[in-house]
Amino acid sequence: MGKVILGMTMSLDGFIHDRSGSVDALYPDFNTLITTEPMRDAIENTGAVVMGRNAFAMAKDPDFYAGNYEFQVPIFVLTHTVPQRRPKETEQLTFTFVTDGIQSAITQAKVAAGHKDVTVIGGASTAQQCLNVGLADELDIDIMPVLLCGGLRLFDAIGTDQIQLERRKVLALPGGRTHFRFGIVK
Ligand SMILES: NC(=O)c1ccc[n+]([C@@H]2O[C@H](COP(=O)([O-])OP(=O)(O)OC[C@H]3O[C@@H](n4cnc5c(N)ncnc54)[C@H](OP(=O)(O)O)[C@@H]3O)[C@@H](O)[C@H]2O)c1
Repeated sequence: MGKVILGMTMSLDGFIHDRSGSVDALYPDFNTLITTEPMRDAIENTGAVVMGRNAFAMAKDPDFYAGNYEFQVPIFVLTHTVPQRRPKETEQLTFTFVTDGIQSAITQAKVAAGHKDVTVIGGASTAQQCLNVGLADELDIDIMPVLLCGGLRLFDAIGTDQIQLERRKVLALPGGRTHFRFGIVK
């Protein structure tokens, strides 16, 4: 069974989008990022993706995912409302809209992933729920050298108990990006 990994890029001051909801300042290097070792490893090792409804909506056209998204694997979208029209799917990339909570989304994604990892790509609410109920094994956090001074915080509502982390990897990547991998000590 693979791991459950939260993968996210944030500003040095902890925001995953700016005050206007844009992630542009966090991904100016997107074309290079896709060629880096951590991203290539993530793509190779990911067997299923979990995302919240708002992260899913980042693609203006929901049909964009099939054939274009970096993770061509089953995608589990956490939502209260299943969309009336199914987005385009392929043999590799399918959508499951999960309405009965994060535990269910992760359980279904693990089955789909088999021996591979489940990558939780956000957003903040989905990541926080994973952390709150102890579902995540690792954090893959990239820090971009920018202070957004406002926006959506990644680590906002994560309860009151300390979560002990263990540093497993640090890499300086092109474009000023720093990649961190932390294990969650259970
Ligand atoms: N910097 C990065 O690497 C990165 C990566 C991904 C996303 N992001 C940013 O993160 C933003 C989204 O974060 P977010 O915290 O607003 O949202 P999110 O976690 O992507 O999605 C939240 C939504 O998912 C649904 N949901 C969440 N928990 C649920 C539950 N337990 N049961 C049923 N449905 C549930 C609800 O949608 P409904 O009630 O509408 O169904 C909720 O409004 C994006 O807009 C993007 O800007 C940044």
